[in-house]
Amino acid sequence: MASTDFYLRGLDYLEQFQRPLDPWLKEIKRVGIARKVPIIDDDMGRFLKMLCALKRPATILEIGCGISYATHWMLLGNPNARITGLDYNQDRLDMCADFLKMSGFSDNITLCRTWAKDYFQTQRSTFDLIFQDSTKKEYAGMLENCYQSLKPEGLLIVDNIFYNGKVLGLAEDQEKKYKKAVQALELFSQQVSEHKGFDCHFFAISDGVLVAQRKS
Ligand SMILES: C[S@@+](CC[C@H](N)C(=O)[O-])C[C@H]1O[C@@H](n2cnc3c(N)ncnc32)[C@H](O)[C@@H]1O
Repeated sequence: MASTDFYLRGLDYLEQFQRPLDPWLKEIKRVGIARKVPIIDDDMGRFLKMLCALKRPATILEIGCGISYATHWMLLGNPNARITGLDYNQDRLDMCADFLKMSGFSDNITLCRTWAKDYFQTQRSTFDLIFQDSTKKEYAGMLENCYQSLKPEGLLIVDNIFYNGKVLGLAEDQEKKYKKAVQALELFSQQVSEHKGFDCHFFAISDGVLVAQRKS
């Protein structure tokens, strides 16, 4: 797709002006790529960092913290934030804990091995910012939980609104595998955009990003 090509060439061009990644951020990225563990893109990382630097969230919930690449970008924006990271995958949580030790941010984080839906059933904490980066099919089912878990004026940030481009059209051989997830993601975008309690802004950066602010 020409516009995707333009976006990627733009990212390449901008690379020469970007501040180099901190060595430990580089290492987390290297491991993520080498082990094929999903991590956010660097443009998403920069966006998250900037939002955290501007909003200064004291408390953050990350749904799907994986090996902590996004966690670290958010901490770079606000090193005083306290983050609760959820993930059901123990291996990833172990790596996450190791990387947090390496960067010196362990004290900022509480890691919970749990399915997000179980967490919401048992916890009533509220946060200044929620970063949703878990299974895309489950976004819609968690929308109300996210709303209830945000403080007034808190931000819900959601990655992969484009689902790696798949919401823009599926090839014939992708239909069977991805159709349901695409429909679920479209339902999520529709529902959140119509939610009376959120002021929503969708951005065509990275893999598609939603920033929704809880109104009151
Ligand atoms: C895209 S990866 C997260 C990447 C991470 N935010 C980063 O940038 O480093 C998604 C993670 O969410 C976890 N996950 C997916 N669905 C989940 C759920 N329903 N509850 C808890 N964890 C979930 C997966 O184990 C995976 O590690």
